[in-house]
Amino acid sequence: MQNRLYFSREVREHFDALVPRLDEVFVGAPSRERRSFELRFERYFSNLFESVVGPYGWHEDFSDFLIRLTELMARAHLERSDALRDLDFERELTPDWFQRQQIIGYACYVERFGGTLQGVREHLDYLTELGVGYIHLQGVLMPRSGESDGGYAIRDYLKVNPSIGSMADLETLTTELRARGISVCVDLVLNHCAAEHDWAQRAQAGDAQFQEYFYMYPHREMPDAYESTLPEIFPEFAPGNFTWNDAAQKWVWTTFHDYQWDLNWSNPEVFLEMADIMFKLANHGVEVFRLDAVAFMWKRLGTDCQNQPEVHDLLQALRACANIVTPAVVHKAEAIVSPDDLVHYLGTGKRYGKVSNIAYHNTLMVQYWGAMASRDTQLMIHTLREFPRTPTSIAWGTYIRCHDDIGWAITDEDASAVGLSGYSHRRFLSDYYTGIFEGSAARGLAFQTNERTGDRRVSGTLAGLNGLEVGLEQNDKRLVNLSIERCLLGFALMCGWGGIPLVYMGDEIGLLNNYGFADNEATRDDNRWLHRPFMDWEKAQRRHLSGFVESRIFGGVKNIIQARKRTPHLHAQYENFVPDTINPHVFLHVRPHPLGNFLGVYNFSELPQLLDLAELTTYQISQPHPYDQIEQRHVFVEAGQLRIPPYGRLWLI
Ligand code: GLC
Repeated sequence: MQNRLYFSREVREHFDALVPRLDEVFVGAPSRERRSFELRFERYFSNLFESVVGPYGWHEDFSDFLIRLTELMARAHLERSDALRDLDFERELTPDWFQRQQIIGYACYVERFGGTLQGVREHLDYLTELGVGYIHLQGVLMPRSGESDGGYAIRDYLKVNPSIGSMADLETLTTELRARGISVCVDLVLNHCAAEHDWAQRAQAGDAQFQEYFYMYPHREMPDAYESTLPEIFPEFAPGNFTWNDAAQKWVWTTFHDYQWDLNWSNPEVFLEMADIMFKLANHGVEVFRLDAVAFMWKRLGTDCQNQPEVHDLLQALRACANIVTPAVVHKAEAIVSPDDLVHYLGTGKRYGKVSNIAYHNTLMVQYWGAMASRDTQLMIHTLREFPRTPTSIAWGTYIRCHDDIGWAITDEDASAVGLSGYSHRRFLSDYYTGIFEGSAARGLAFQTNERTGDRRVSGTLAGLNGLEVGLEQNDKRLVNLSIERCLLGFALMCGWGGIPLVYMGDEIGLLNNYGFADNEATRDDNRWLHRPFMDWEKAQRRHLSGFVESRIFGGVKNIIQARKRTPHLHAQYENFVPDTINPHVFLHVRPHPLGNFLGVYNFSELPQLLDLAELTTYQISQPHPYDQIEQRHVFVEAGQLRIPPYGRLWLI
C-alpha cells in the first residue's frame, strides 16, 4: 500500500495490523481481487474506525472485533458476483447516480402489487411506463407468522417471506430489474427483530450469550428508570416500552409491539451479525437498504432513547462497510424525527456526508398536508426555510404518502412563529383529515390516539385524504376535479423538490381507501392497512382510457415525471431556498443552478391565484413570459401578474 493520505497515526496502526489478516482470506484468489478490496479498505478505513471506536472501543476484545469484521468484509467481497462488481465499478464512476433527476422511486408491498416476486415480474412494463428507476419492495424478508407489523417483525433476515417466493426469486427479480435500470430497495430492520427470531428464541431459553443481543432485565428497576423519560410509539396497541417474558422471567425492551424485541447494538456481536446480513442481501442484488427505525438503535438512561450520537456512529460504520464491500449499495435512513435531529442521519460536522445517503423528508410531507387543509402556506414556508442545510452528496426521499400513518410533526415554536397554536393546529389537522372538520371532504381514520398528549395521527390514501372518495361517491364533479389537482400538486411538489420522489403504490391511479382491512384478523387492529390497498389492475388498465380518473392522475403523474427527467436543476446536489410570497396561498422554492434558477410555484387553494411579476424578477426568472417545464410552454403574464390555476403547479426556468 502506498497511499496513506487518509490516516492519523492511531488509525494507521490499526490498519497496518489488519492488512496481513487478508492473506488467508485471499489465498488462491487473483491478485486483482485483493488489490481492489485493499484500495477500498484503505480509502474507507478511517471512516470505519472513527465510527466504531466510540460505541465499541471500550470493549476488551475491540481488536478482535476489528479482525473479525475485516475478515467478514473480505469474504463478502470475494463472494460478490461479476455482474455486481461491474455495478460497483459503474457506481464508483457515477457516485451521484441516486441524486440524478432521472431517478424516480416506487414503493409497494410485493404481496399487494404482484402477489409474489414472480408476480411482480409480470408488471415490469408498468413500472417502466411510469418511468421508475428505483423500487422499494416491502414485506420481502421472512416475518413472524400472524401479526408482523406489516412485515417489520423479521424472523429470518436471510430468508424471503415464503408466501412471496424464495431468495432465488429475489435474485432473479433484482437481476431483471437492474437490466431495466431499476434498483431494488429492501427493508433492513435494524432496531428490532421478531420474538420468534432464532436469537430471541435462544435468549428466551436462557442462553446468556443471546440475552446480550437484547435488553433484558429481571426486575422493574431499570425498565422503570428508562420509562420515566421514554415516549410511547404505539400507545394504543402496545403501551409502555417493555414486555414481561415468562419463559425467560425477564422484562424485554420492546419499543414497538411486544413481539418486536429491540436489539442491543452496544454489543459488537449484533453489529457483526447485521453487517453479515447486509453483505449477503447485497450479494443477492439488493442495491438500496432502507434502514428501518434507526432513531431507536441506542439507549441512554435519562433520555428519550432516540437520535443518540452512537446511532450516527453505527450508521457511519455500516456505510463505510458498504463502501468497502459493496460500493454500488446506498443506505436510506428511516428516521421520522425533527429536522434538527434528522440532518445528523445524513452526516454533519465530523460525520459530514458519511452517515446515510438518503433520508425521508418527513417535513415536506407534513407541510403539504398542512397547507392543503388550511389553504395557507405560511407555516410551510417558515418551517422549510428554517430547515438545516444538508451535505451536497445526499438525496432526500421525498414523498406525500407512504405505508405509515401521518404524524403531525409541527412544533409549538414553528406554529407560534406564524401566529398559530401548535396544539390547536395539530388538532385541526387530525379533525380535517378524519373528516370531522366541517366542510372537509377528507376520509381518513385516526391512528394511535394518545389521550395524554392529545396526539392523533392519521391513516388514509392520497386520494382518500384529498377528497376523491367523497367526490366520486357523491358524484360531485367539481370535487373530483379538485381532488385530482390536489393529488397532482403533491406529485409535482415531491418531484420538484430534488431527491428521490417515492410514488406510493396505487397513488398514481388514485386508489381509494381499503376498508377491507377491518375484516381480516391479521390487519384489523392496525388501520394503516387502510392505505395499503391491493393493486387494482383493472383500474390500472383505465390509465389509457381518456376521461377516467385513473388516466387523468396517471397521465398527470407521468407528465410530471418526464418533466423532472429533463430538468437538470432537480439533481439532488442543488439546494432549495424558500422565499416569502405576498400571496398566502402560494408556495415557492428556488433552486439556483449553473444554468439559471429554477422556481417551483404551487397554489394550495381551490381558487386561481396571482403571482406578481416583480416576485419572479427577484428570482431571475426570464421575462416577459417565463417557461414552465411541466407543460413545456411559456406561461402567460397579464398586467404584471401570473395566474396560477386552482392547485396549479409550475416549474419555471
Ligand atoms: C418503521 C416502519 C413502520 C413500522 C416501524 C417499526 O417506522 O415504517 O411501518 O411499524 O418501523 O418497525
